[in-house]
Amino acid sequence: MNMQLAGLQDRAVVVTGAGRGLGEAFAVHLAHAGARVIANDVDLELAERTAANIRDHGGQAVASGHSVTDPAQAQELVQLCVDEFGSIDGLVNNAGLNYEALPWQEEPDQMRELIEVNVLGVMYTGVAAIKAMTAQGTGGAIVNISSGASLGQRKLGVYAASKGAVASLTYSWALDLEEVGIRVNAVCPLAHTRMVWKSERSLRNCPPDRTPSRIAPLVLFLLSDDAEGITGQLVRCNGPQLHIIGQPYLKAPILERQTWDTETVRRAFDEVFSAHLEPYGLEKRVPPRLRKWTESTSTPLRTA
Ligand SMILES: NC(=O)c1ccc[n+]([C@@H]2O[C@H](COP(=O)([O-])OP(=O)(O)OC[C@H]3O[C@@H](n4cnc5c(N)ncnc54)[C@H](O)[C@@H]3O)[C@@H](O)[C@H]2O)c1
Repeated sequence: MNMQLAGLQDRAVVVTGAGRGLGEAFAVHLAHAGARVIANDVDLELAERTAANIRDHGGQAVASGHSVTDPAQAQELVQLCVDEFGSIDGLVNNAGLNYEALPWQEEPDQMRELIEVNVLGVMYTGVAAIKAMTAQGTGGAIVNISSGASLGQRKLGVYAASKGAVASLTYSWALDLEEVGIRVNAVCPLAHTRMVWKSERSLRNCPPDRTPSRIAPLVLFLLSDDAEGITGQLVRCNGPQLHIIGQPYLKAPILERQTWDTETVRRAFDEVFSAHLEPYGLEKRVPPRLRKWTESTSTPLRTA
């Protein structure tokens, strides 16, 4: 691990969901790099285990059992960091839930619970941290944990939507916060954790050697001063691969007319957009209308 990162020594950082999995690895590696860490987890026993482990190895850590789904508790979590360490310089918005379900199997209570942790939790904790950082006037860095699933994945609609929300939030906050010196980036990890054990498909894509520790250097880099000038980015690391995820964009051709009625919309699709439809989802599925040109069983195009 890179121990030479600038500006992590003595920085005060909150890591949510730090009782196990990726959050635990982020907290431990941050402390190892000299940061002072609030190890938060709604499961306080696990948070205390992470904090005690850090202290046993000579690091500085305090446990928090606050739930990020409650704005008052998110505020208390940030305040705990300020009270214990005198400031909050970094936040890793990592706490998250997931489950697999086909759309017709979804239960409203389960959908709400996931959105409360993965979206509102990130917003509540982020806003509390941003208020404290701007009040300090010293800037800071936020790393939100999104997911490659945000590009769209089967049986993960609600989870994917929650992580897409985290990506949008990252771009928007990066725009708002550049002038106050707060950088906001997002990381899409892949690592062998409890979240992966729950799904056979995830287990196939994520062998046990993809440990959470392999993602920690990226998160530490984005929190450190070495990442100065880097904000508004979505970065994916799955162990061996590290890459930026492209931003959605307004795609040409952009057709323009005074008003669009159903007939002109239909013509736009028939005459222009047919060739511009996008493969969709993480698996890049070709839309049915284009498939007749791309499937190997189709008759090849001939020229006269
Ligand atoms: N593991 C992967 O491959 C993977 C892939 C993409 C994204 N992610 C994301 O990474 C993050 C960490 O996932 P993980 O794999 O380590 O999962 P995990 O289930 O091992 O750990 C998540 C932790 O968050 C805590 N938590 C849940 N609700 C909370 C709340 N309300 N307040 C505070 N803490 C709460 C849990 O108690 C748990 O300890 C999640 O946001 C997840 O969506 C993971």
